[in-house]
Amino acid sequence: MQNKFETLESKIEEAKKGGGEKRIESQHAKGKLTARERIHFLLDDGSFEEIGMLVTHRSTNFGLDKTKFLGDGVVTGYGTISGRLVYVFAQDFTVLGGSLAEAHAEKICKIMDMAMKNGAPVIGLNDSGGARIQEGVVSLGGYADIFYKNTQASGVIPQLSAIMGPCAGGAVYSPALTDFIMMVENTSYMFVTGPNVVKTVTHEEVSSEDLGGASAHSTKSGVTHLTYANEIECINGIKTLLSYMPQNCEEEALMLPYEAGNEKRENLNTIVPASANQPYDIKEVIEGTVDADSFYEIHKDFAENIVVGFARLAGRSIGIVANQPAFLAGVLDIKSSQKGARFVRFCDAFNIPLLVFEDVPGFLPGTDQEWNAIITNGAKLLYAFSEATVPRITVITRKAYGGAYDVMNSKHIGADLNYAWPSAEIAVMGAKGAAEIIFKNEIKEASNPDAKWQEKEAEYAEMFANPYNAAARGYVDEVIKPEQTREKLIKAFKMLENKVDTLPKKKHGNIPL
Ligand code: COA
Repeated sequence: MQNKFETLESKIEEAKKGGGEKRIESQHAKGKLTARERIHFLLDDGSFEEIGMLVTHRSTNFGLDKTKFLGDGVVTGYGTISGRLVYVFAQDFTVLGGSLAEAHAEKICKIMDMAMKNGAPVIGLNDSGGARIQEGVVSLGGYADIFYKNTQASGVIPQLSAIMGPCAGGAVYSPALTDFIMMVENTSYMFVTGPNVVKTVTHEEVSSEDLGGASAHSTKSGVTHLTYANEIECINGIKTLLSYMPQNCEEEALMLPYEAGNEKRENLNTIVPASANQPYDIKEVIEGTVDADSFYEIHKDFAENIVVGFARLAGRSIGIVANQPAFLAGVLDIKSSQKGARFVRFCDAFNIPLLVFEDVPGFLPGTDQEWNAIITNGAKLLYAFSEATVPRITVITRKAYGGAYDVMNSKHIGADLNYAWPSAEIAVMGAKGAAEIIFKNEIKEASNPDAKWQEKEAEYAEMFANPYNAAARGYVDEVIKPEQTREKLIKAFKMLENKVDTLPKKKHGNIPL
């Protein structure tokens, strides 16, 4: 028996070595941790239970039968983060470059099946050279099996993907199907086709980092939701992000203990400038309203004219969507609509109530926007809000103009409550533009057209640049002073906590994609 124990121990020892000391050193030299080290930092101490440590590939192609590693290049299992069950897979770049083939894919699928059956999040730590070239089509089949599971799991359990090394070719589509992608600066990249293929096809010279590094995907493409300076920060980011989410779509996020105090926030009274044309930072409004240090921004550097992120309000996890007057005047465009819609749908799928701060002058005009389908893309945000059944509240801080008023979680599309600050202007358009259109002839014929224009602008502003017409119709439920916002929202979300709302029976909706 002793011999048999020794055999087991030596196999475990061997598996833990991954691709061996030399490759581990080379991994560290690149500023990267190994798969096991990442799991160690991610999970609660001693909570990791590995599954499939002794799995090996079955291929004999190109001498692969002589290159077998226990675990086949991916460490899989379950454990806890702050006591909550999670499933994890971490690709091991030291083993055949973390490349994915049949057995490697089966291990990931097994974990995903367990996560779905047991209702807990899946976290993928990606670091892989892609499809294992020697195994050919079974590698592609393995990817497709994972993509299928990602899609099945979408909306059932949260799925988080951290990119901690290469992620190229077909490999990118598993993270892309998950809820959040996080990247590590300078050591990770994602692209469908790498710099060499790009050069051959389009003659563009571009480095891996410029083509698909964390910076490119956080600012240009929006593929990644969060970026971090190093792996430890990324791992801590995963934990923080998870803290706002429930385990699955049947549950609600954990409510943190909270002691009620004086909720009046006088500093909110002075943020909106006197002139409607002056910008201000909506993040000051968000941070002045929510629990201290609780705002966790998503997609920070992408489509900055809309701000989205998680926060807590009296301990309750909420999702925030806010127009940003400090960037492009807070206008809605293609990218901001996509960004907002995706976030709204995540929150709705996982029972996270939504809070909207609205200050929007309308949709961005121009051929670029029209020809790239602002109609279809703006409709995404409209659709996402309209189908959301979680508690939904809007606070109109200033402009609520045109179709954008309807889109930004108006009462008409199912918001539960709309508040407006006295500075709110709820109208078809700004007073200047409106006066120019409806008083065109009068202005043209006046002895002093500019003075006439100003007079008519003032007339229009007097009538519509306020929240009271909307309040008179009940489109706004209450006009409140900014300092009252936090208190009102805490009470309102508590009032809405047992909300039951269902969509008509359907197979699935057809969001304009
Ligand atoms: N299939 C099989 N083995 C792979 C692999 C793949 N797709 N990608 C990397 N490896 C192996 C390498 O052969 C090497 O093995 P070794 O340790 O026994 O020498 C090891 O992984 C590390 O790769 P290496 O190229 O030395 O690392 P690097 O950091 O210099 O480069 C990549 C990383 C990902 C850029 C590079 O390995 C690469 O281009 N891989 C192929 C990517 C690809 O075309 N994938 C298939 C399409 S999805």
